Amino acid sequence: MDVDEAARRAAELRAQIEHHAYLYYVLDQPEISDAEYDELFRELQKLEDEFPELRTPDSPTQRVGGRPLEQFAQVRHREPMLSLANARDEDELRAWDARNRRLLEGRGLDDESFQYVVEPKIDGLAVSLTYRDGILTVGATRGNGLVGEDVTANLKTIHAIPLRLRRDPPPSIVEVRGEVYLPLSAFARLNEERAAQGLPLFANPRNAAAGSIRQLDPAVAASRPLSIFCYGIGGSEGLTLATHHEALEWLRGQGFRVNPDIALVDSMDEVVARCVWWEQRRGELDYDIDGAVVKVDSYRLQRALGTVAHDPRWAIAFKFAPTTAITRLREIAVSVGRTGVLTPFAILDPVNVGGVTVERATLHNEDDIHRKDIRPGDDVIIQRAGDVIPQVVGPLLTGETIEDGRRVSRAARHEALPEWHMPERCPACGSRVVREAGAVAVRCPNRSCPAQIVESIKHFVSKDAMDIDGLGEEAVSALHQAGIIENVADLYDLDLEKLATVSIFTRKQRGPDGREVVVPGKLAENVLAALEASKEQPFARVLYALGIPHVGAVTARALVEHFRTMDRLQAASPAELAAVPGVGAVVAEAVRQYLDDPRNQETITRLRAKGLRFAEEEGPQTRRPLEGRTFVLTGRLQGLTRSEAQARIEALGGRVSNTVGKATDYVVVGEDPGSKLDRARELGVRVIDEEAFADLLRGSGQEPF
Ligand code: IVH
Repeated sequence: MDVDEAARRAAELRAQIEHHAYLYYVLDQPEISDAEYDELFRELQKLEDEFPELRTPDSPTQRVGGRPLEQFAQVRHREPMLSLANARDEDELRAWDARNRRLLEGRGLDDESFQYVVEPKIDGLAVSLTYRDGILTVGATRGNGLVGEDVTANLKTIHAIPLRLRRDPPPSIVEVRGEVYLPLSAFARLNEERAAQGLPLFANPRNAAAGSIRQLDPAVAASRPLSIFCYGIGGSEGLTLATHHEALEWLRGQGFRVNPDIALVDSMDEVVARCVWWEQRRGELDYDIDGAVVKVDSYRLQRALGTVAHDPRWAIAFKFAPTTAITRLREIAVSVGRTGVLTPFAILDPVNVGGVTVERATLHNEDDIHRKDIRPGDDVIIQRAGDVIPQVVGPLLTGETIEDGRRVSRAARHEALPEWHMPERCPACGSRVVREAGAVAVRCPNRSCPAQIVESIKHFVSKDAMDIDGLGEEAVSALHQAGIIENVADLYDLDLEKLATVSIFTRKQRGPDGREVVVPGKLAENVLAALEASKEQPFARVLYALGIPHVGAVTARALVEHFRTMDRLQAASPAELAAVPGVGAVVAEAVRQYLDDPRNQETITRLRAKGLRFAEEEGPQTRRPLEGRTFVLTGRLQGLTRSEAQARIEALGGRVSNTVGKATDYVVVGEDPGSKLDRARELGVRVIDEEAFADLLRGSGQEPF
C-alpha cells in the first residue's frame, strides 16, 4: 500500500470508528459488535504503525497511550467555572424564583415569560473541554474556578468525549462544561476487583472518578470506564446562542453526551414537579445524582441576573436528602456465594438512607473490615449510592452515644469492642474454610455445600442469565432441601408432580367429595413454561448462566463471539483463551479449570441433551458466506458508494483489496473501470458487473441495493 492509499484508508477508518464510538458511548445504540469495532481499531493502529506520519492528534488511537506525567500543568479557564447555591426544599426554591423576579422587575424585565431548564445534578467531577477550530486541545479540572489542572491525556481516554466536533464549520474556540462520572455498575465492579486484590476501596463513585482523572498515568484513567454528561458552555468565539436549551441542543449536535431527561418547562410548579420526579428516579439511574439543577433558560435574563460571589443567580441546585446515615452495627454475618467465596455483611439497626430503609450492608472482605477498623457493636456510617448495595463506610468515632441509659464516648466504646474475624468453618455446611495463598478471598471448598448449590442455581435462573421467572430464593432453597434439585441440569427434569412437593408451588382445591386436596398451582405451570422457553436463550447467556468463576456476561459474549461453539471452546488452550479480547490469563485459567472438571462436563452434557443452545445461532449478522473471498472494486457503481460496497463485503466476511492478483476471487466492475479490469483479464480472474455483484450480496442474505 502506498502512502496515499494508506492515508485514504486511515481517514475512512477514523470516520467509521468515530461514528461507531459515538453510537456506542454517546447514544448507547451500537450497530456493530465489539469484535467488529476492535477489528477496525486494530487495522487503524496497524496503518499508523506502518505510516507514523498519518497519526493525527484527533485519531481515536490517541485516546490511550500518553506517557505518565510528572505533574499537571495549570490552565486558566476563559470563563470562570462557577458553583451553585443550594435550595434544600420547595420553599427555598420558590424563594429563589421570587427574588429573581423582583430583581428583573427592578431592571424593567418583569413582563418576560420565563422558561426554566431542569437537569440532574451529576455527582462527579466538573471538567472544561476546550475545542480550537473543532479539535479538543485542552481538558481541565475546575480547580479554584479560575485556574484548573490540565488533565487532557486522562480526559481523552473517555470515549464519550469527542476528540473533534461533528459539525462544520466549528467555532474558533469553545469551552464545553460537563461532569465526568463513573457509572454505578462500573463502580461496584471496580470495588469488587479491588477487594479481591486487597486494594483499598473507593468510598463512592465520585471519589473513584476524581481519583481516576487526577492520576498522572493516563493508563489508569483508561482502565476505568468513565463517562460524561455535558451541561453547558463556558467561553467561546464564533458561536451565537440565545438560550441554555439551544446550547444543549448544539452540544448534542456536536456529538456530546447530554442527559436525555433534561426538561424545558414554563412554570415553577413544573420546576418543582420535575425536581420531585428526579428525586424519585434517583435509585433507578446508573449514575449518582445529589440534586437537580434549575437554570433560567434565556441568556439575556441570565446576564441581567448576574452572579454573586461564585454563584450565578440564574441557577440553583435543589438538593436531595443525603444518602448517608448513622446506625448501630448489630452483627457481622457471612454469606457463601456460588463459587464458595465467603463474604461478610453487616446486620444493622434499620435506618433510613436517602428514603430507603437499610438493614443490611456489604462489607467486602475481612481485610477491608480491619483496614476500616469496623467492629460489631460500633455506630457506623452507611452510604447508599443509587441502586448499589448499601456500604459501611466506617465506624463513627466522634461524639457520644447512649449505652444502657448512659452517655459514653463512641471512641472509648469502640476500643473496648473485640475485633471481628472470619469464621473457620463455612456457615452453611461446616466445612473448614480455605484461604488461598496471596488471595484475599476465603472459600468453602465443599462443592456440595448447600449454599453454593442454591446460589449457583439462583444465578443460572437470574434475569441476565436464563431468565426463568418464578424461581426465587425461597423456591430454589425449598426445591434443594426437598432433594429435587442438586444441579442446574435438574431444573430441566422438573415436572408438575415434583414441583407439587414444595408448598409454594401448590394450591388447595376441594375435591368431588368436598375434601381439600393439594394440587399444583399456576406458579408451577409458569415455571415449567419459563424453563421450556429458556431453551431458546442464545449460547452466550447459557455460558454466562453456568457461573464459571470470572466469566461475567461481557466475557461470555466475547468467548462466544470468538469460539462460536462449546466444542471449540472446550478444545481451546489457555493461550488461545487468553488471546480473546477482554480475557486475561486469570480468566483463561478459570475457564480451563471449569471445563476440565468432569462434574461440569456432565452438567454440560445433560443440558445439551435437554436442548439448550451450545452454539451461536447463524443469524443474518453472523453469517459469513464470503469468508475467505477477496474482492477488488474498479469503476463507479450506481447503487452504492465504494465504501458502502466494501462495508457490505466485509460484513459478510469477505475482504477488499486494492490490487488484482492471483488470490483475487472477484473483480467488481462499474462504470469507467481502470487498469484493474485489464489486469483481471490477464490473470483470468472472475469479473462481475454491478448486477451480478448485487445478486451475490442478495444471495448472501444482504439487502439488495
Ligand atoms: S451548572 C452555572 N449543571 O455542580 C453553574 N453543574 O455546585 C455551574 N454539576 O461544579 C454549574 N451537574 O460540578 C451545572 N447539570 C449541571 C450539573 C452541575 C453537576 C456540578 C458541577 C458544578 C457543581 C456546582
